[in-house]
Amino acid sequence: MTISYEYVEEIDSTNNELKRRAAEGKCQQYDVLSAGTQTGGRGRSGHTWSSPVGDSISTSMILFPKQVSPRHIPRITPMAAVAVAETIEELCGLSAGIKWPNDVLINKKKVCGILNELIPDDEGRPDHVVVGIGVNVHIREFDPAISDMATSLDLEIEALGRPANTHCGAITVGIWEHFAKHYEAFLHTEDLSEVVSYYNDRLVNKGQQVRVLDPISPFEGEALFMDETGALHIMTSDGERIVDSGEVSVRGLYGYI
Ligand code: BTN
Repeated sequence: MTISYEYVEEIDSTNNELKRRAAEGKCQQYDVLSAGTQTGGRGRSGHTWSSPVGDSISTSMILFPKQVSPRHIPRITPMAAVAVAETIEELCGLSAGIKWPNDVLINKKKVCGILNELIPDDEGRPDHVVVGIGVNVHIREFDPAISDMATSLDLEIEALGRPANTHCGAITVGIWEHFAKHYEAFLHTEDLSEVVSYYNDRLVNKGQQVRVLDPISPFEGEALFMDETGALHIMTSDGERIVDSGEVSVRGLYGYI
């Protein structure tokens, strides 16, 4: 497996650029594009994603999971969260948490968001996946609307009384090396067996009362664990229910988590 890295100072969105290149047949599996800033960074659910110049990581990798069953492709998402958590723990000495399915947190505040996009071919079959990762690295002030829920690596390292000497390039390489290793395992099993125990050890929703925002019938319960398919198990007053990340999102009843 060879990961090929490219860095540009500015782009609308690293996800968008890899999708454009794929449409022109100009990229291959494990190509990574990172940017110093994004002018049109995108988050999940149609939100924007802010990437202040030089203070954050905006990076995307392209995959061509042709041999993977289409319904298993969303399982790639939790793997990316695991890769980020592993890298933060190894390179920054911080304890990372994961909010299902794929926000990475430190001290219950979000430090990383992940946007995975599946692009079909002309016949509607999955063609490629772009895994987009944004990490707050040197950011010291957040928009008041999100300051209770967001943090950066430097803020958290300094809160421990240590000088922050975080390096965006090293963190980016760490993330993608971990991710590619997990992805290669996934290509054999098509499940999350290789990472599920690490994931659940860091699952911040575990034991929390959550509201499942099912568009047809929302419900509440206690989050239990993620299984090898990436689904979240929730104990409700009517028994255990299982929810899939592609269909619903989950909110804490008493706050962000
Ligand atoms: C989220 O809403 O939590 C997901 C944020 C994903 C942001 C990353 S930054 C790199 C890539 N390019 C984008 O436009 N978005 C993703």
